[in-house]
Amino acid sequence: TEGASAKAKRRAGERATEEVEDGFVVGLGTGSTTAYAIEAIGEAVADGLKVQGIPTSFQSRQLALEVGIPLTTLDAVETVDLAIDGADQVVDDPDSSAYGALIKGGGAAHTREKLVDSAAERFVVVADPSKLADRLERSVPLEVLPDAHTVVEDRVRDLGGEPTLRDAEHKDGPVVTDNGNLVLDCEFGAIDDPAELAGRLSSVPGVVEHGLFVDLADATYVGTDDGCEVREY
Ligand code: A5P
Repeated sequence: TEGASAKAKRRAGERATEEVEDGFVVGLGTGSTTAYAIEAIGEAVADGLKVQGIPTSFQSRQLALEVGIPLTTLDAVETVDLAIDGADQVVDDPDSSAYGALIKGGGAAHTREKLVDSAAERFVVVADPSKLADRLERSVPLEVLPDAHTVVEDRVRDLGGEPTLRDAEHKDGPVVTDNGNLVLDCEFGAIDDPAELAGRLSSVPGVVEHGLFVDLADATYVGTDDGCEVREY
């Protein structure tokens, strides 16, 4: 039987899919929660819904092909109507200036996710309650050019972070992203001002993209034991 967390993820994915309308171009995020949305969109397509998907990773492309969603690319469309994507952590304190800020990249897909999510007219996050937090405090993934990893590590330490090169599980050596780059997981402790840190990380040469998503999400669907809550930002 399906565990509680899988159920919550499924509810979030399915509820977010209700936002998809006929004719939409939809950004397809990455991860186990978004996978439920991609499957639900596939079912709607089988029932006659006309949409085009823009995958954010090899994984979401494979799943979209499997469930029959017609695919396109960013450069072939004028508008991305909606993006649906998961997160590793979401600020859930309405009194915080970082309300709705995210950490992404646990699946090493955050560069293309940020590209597609920020191009979308509306970006909705799908999450289970384990992702919610008062402040961002997980490590921040950086996708870095392979030649740059040691100099970026130095700069991260200058910024007060502790970088770790992400190792692959089923390969000797590091994780290599869909774009051929490496990933540094950077521990900064609790992040009081994600916008400021985001700016600093973006300005480090060799950093292709970091996993802080500030002021990007429009809403979060939080699947729960018996339903789904929606936060609008
Ligand atoms: C991919 O790099 C991440 O940004 C994912 O979107 C994130 O890890 C969410 O994945 P789950 O839904 O599997 O937790």
